[in-house]
Amino acid sequence: MQPFFPVCPVCGRALNKKGRTLQCESGHSFDLAKEGYVNLLTHHHKSGDATGDSRGMARARRAFLDKGWFRPLADALAEEIRALGKENPRVLDICCGEGYYSEQLANALPCRLLGFDLSKEMVRLAAKRGLNALFFVANLSAIPLPEGSADAALHLFAPFHESSFARVLAPDGALFSVVPGKRHLFELKEAVYDTPYKNDEQLPQTTLLTLAETKKVSARIRLETAEDIRALFNMTPYAHRTSREGTERLNRLETLETTIEFVIGTYTK
Ligand SMILES: C[S@@+](CC[C@H](N)C(=O)[O-])C[C@H]1O[C@@H](n2cnc3c(N)ncnc32)[C@H](O)[C@@H]1O
Ligand SMILES: [Zn+2]
Repeated sequence: MQPFFPVCPVCGRALNKKGRTLQCESGHSFDLAKEGYVNLLTHHHKSGDATGDSRGMARARRAFLDKGWFRPLADALAEEIRALGKENPRVLDICCGEGYYSEQLANALPCRLLGFDLSKEMVRLAAKRGLNALFFVANLSAIPLPEGSADAALHLFAPFHESSFARVLAPDGALFSVVPGKRHLFELKEAVYDTPYKNDEQLPQTTLLTLAETKKVSARIRLETAEDIRALFNMTPYAHRTSREGTERLNRLETLETTIEFVIGTYTK
């Protein structure tokens, strides 16, 4: 069985923990940050926060997700991974963000957990959760993990990279990719836009993996504070492309009842 632990992003050899560093046999060395995460980006890849989500985005996600508003999705994912029937499955959280789903999964079932994201700020927040897991900064186009080492991978609301994901997945592994459902946050959009549109619900297309199953998770949530409404809005892509008028309408909202809806695509090899 392939070891489920990062490999050296420079030479691809195994990394071993020595004190507060991870080192390979060629002498490449990566320091563990005080929060316990490690930056495995090489100079070929730009460091996270220029292209990954910003610090404000990271904080907004944490503030909102930690209140449990998207818990139905976290529960459904734990159920999917439990249904794989593996003892202590090796789970990779691809583009883990600030680690909410990692933590929910770790609480729901025994598993071995790794997570990475391009944004150092996101990874730092994920590591601060203090889980029995290793978080690292990396680009999804070059995931520094042994081939075929993950029994399951979570891939939530993030860019897709089929060759990279197919490479790290074990032959009998499963990738759970999540996209927003048609009516996800529709009432929030109605409150802000004159002509809100529904999401296209398109799961990633791939020829290297097989889409074995799709499931929908829907619920209604009622936000009772302007703070929660703003945190939700700030973690959506709309936050960057809403007019001042739309933002003002949003700022006037004090409660909001809205649909949350997600599509989980299960991909196998
Ligand atoms: C919308 S957030 C979702 C985070 C997390 N999966 C969640 O649901 O809370 C998208 C994440 O993808 C990360 N990301 C974007 N491009 C990336 C890349 N090329 N490699 C790794 N992570 C990337 C961003 O930094 C961001 O944290
Ligand atoms: Zn090396």
